[in-house]
Amino acid sequence: MKALAAACLLTLASALPVVAASPCQPGEIVVKFATVVSPTDNPKGIAAQIFADRVNRAMKGRVCVIVYPNSMLYDDDTVLQAMLQGDVQMAAPSLSKFEAFTKVFRLFDLPFLFPDIAAVDRFETSPAGERMKSAMVDRGLAGLEFWHSGMKQFSANRPLLRPGDAAGLKFRIQPSAVLAAEIRALHAQPMSIAFADVHDALKTGVVDGQENTWSNIYAQKIYKVQDGITETNHGVLEYLVVTSTAFLNAMPADTRSQFLGILHAVTVERNAAVTKVEAKSRAAILADRGTIRSLTPDERAEWVAAMQPVWAEFRTDVGPENLAAAEAASRVSEPTGGTGG
Ligand code: LMR
Repeated sequence: MKALAAACLLTLASALPVVAASPCQPGEIVVKFATVVSPTDNPKGIAAQIFADRVNRAMKGRVCVIVYPNSMLYDDDTVLQAMLQGDVQMAAPSLSKFEAFTKVFRLFDLPFLFPDIAAVDRFETSPAGERMKSAMVDRGLAGLEFWHSGMKQFSANRPLLRPGDAAGLKFRIQPSAVLAAEIRALHAQPMSIAFADVHDALKTGVVDGQENTWSNIYAQKIYKVQDGITETNHGVLEYLVVTSTAFLNAMPADTRSQFLGILHAVTVERNAAVTKVEAKSRAAILADRGTIRSLTPDERAEWVAAMQPVWAEFRTDVGPENLAAAEAASRVSEPTGGTGG
C-alpha cells in the first residue's frame, strides 16, 4: 500500500510543471529581460545573460535581472506593450520591430546601406546615432544601448545567385515597411512572421525563403530547411536595448547609474565580440553540411541595383541628416560586405 502511495506521488510530481525558484531576494528590484533568441548562439542572448550575471553579482540586494530567452515570456509583437504596462522591464528587439513607435529606425533596414558592422558601429556612436536612442521617449520607451547582431543573408528553397532567382517566391520578413519594399523590389512576396515560427514556416512551405544573420540561421536550424544560404550581406540586424521611462525614472539615482554603467560596459565588450560570434555560427553551418553560396562582384552588383530604388521611398521617414551620417560612416569601410569588421 505504502509502495502504491509512493508511486502515485511520484507520478503526480512528474506531471506537475517545473517551476524554477526565483533567483531574486525580497526587496530587490526585479528586472525581467525578455528575448526571442538563443541564449548561447545569438549575440543578444549571450550579452543579456552576461549583463544579468554582472548586475546580480555587483548589485546583490538591490537589483536582480532574470533573462527569459527563446520567446518564452513574450515575442517581439507583444513585448513593448507589456513593457509599458510594467509586466516586463527590459528587451532588445531588432530595430525593425519599433514601427508602431517611430519611423527613424527604418534607416537600418535600407538595403546595402552599411557595408559591415564596423560602419554600423561608427554610425551608432556618432551624434546622429546617439540621438536616435531617445526617439521614443515621448511614447514611454527609453533606448539605452544599441547591440550588434550581424549582417543579414538570404536563403530560399532554391539557389539564389541573381536577384531574378527570388522572383515569385514568398519571403519571411520582420514587421518592417522597408523590408517589405525590399522583397517587393525582387518581385517576390513579403510575409511578416514571428521569429519563433520561422523554422516551421519554411519547413511547411508557408514561405520559401528568409533573411537573417548567421547566428539566427544557425540557432534556429534554418539552414536545414533551405536549399542554401547566399552570402549577400545586404542588410544589418541591430538591436536596441529598451526599458520603460517610468521604470527607469523610478530607480534611485545611484542604483540607476550603476545599472546603466554595467549595461554600457557589457555593450562595449559584446559589440566588439560580435564578428567572432557570427563567424562561429557560419562555420558551424558549414560543419553541419549546410550550403553557403558566395556572390561574384557582378552578381552582387545586380542585387544592389535591384534593391537600391527602395531608398527613395523612405528618405523622409529616416531623416535626410541621419542618412547622410550613416553614409559618411559607411564610406570609411571597404564596400565588400562581411559579417563584421
Ligand atoms: C527576427 O525576427 O528575425 C530577429 O529580430 C530575431 C532577433 O531578435 O534576432
